[in-house]
Amino acid sequence: MMTQNAYKQAAAQAAIAFLPEQAVIGVGTGSTANYFIDELAKIKGRIDGAVASSVATAERLKSHGIPVYELQQVDSLPVYVDGADEINGHLQMIKGGGGALTREKIVAAVAEQFICIADHSKRVRQLGEFPLPVEVIPMARSHVARELVKLGGRPALREGFVTDNGNLILDVWGLAIAEPIKLESEINQIVGVVCNGLFARRPADVLLLGGPDGVETVRG
Ligand code: A5P
Repeated sequence: MMTQNAYKQAAAQAAIAFLPEQAVIGVGTGSTANYFIDELAKIKGRIDGAVASSVATAERLKSHGIPVYELQQVDSLPVYVDGADEINGHLQMIKGGGGALTREKIVAAVAEQFICIADHSKRVRQLGEFPLPVEVIPMARSHVARELVKLGGRPALREGFVTDNGNLILDVWGLAIAEPIKLESEINQIVGVVCNGLFARRPADVLLLGGPDGVETVRG
């Protein structure tokens, strides 16, 4: 029987077919993205390099000899490949379980196409069972937490964690997210919030979902 890791790996492998030749591509963060980086290493002559969504991803890419570029150095980014913590039928996602949500959202915003790779446990009917990560400026954390309670959530500080941008993460429990686009905007309006892990305004374009029956391709 295939394990969850094998499903992640299968989805990562399937993403290779979506890459344009000789381009710089965006690469996400997390265990599924790590499988993708390992697959990328096998075909690295076919791409020009990568823009990384985290320090950890940049290090892994470099360890495989894949050139890493700053976002400012590239004119365009045809594809961004990344995992998700939850993904719904509209290919809207919760991301940031690894804490890299802000850079992930920036790279995703620039990319023409977002390819989400995930194992089948990530597919949900409604987003919100996974606690929603919110990156906050440290001095604003109590204020932001109080505002998140007003929105119906139960925020918890991610203990001992600092983002690549020097900020904190509040993980917000108990949100049954009926209107993801609205909530994404509302949270962004709270002073002191840098970014939240809802990818609703910019959903994935393609989902490659690994499961017991192989890799399912879902287009948005
Ligand atoms: C990283 O910050 C996240 O957005 C990841 O994309 C997400 O946590 C998925 O991680 P896994 O691939 O490890 O499940």
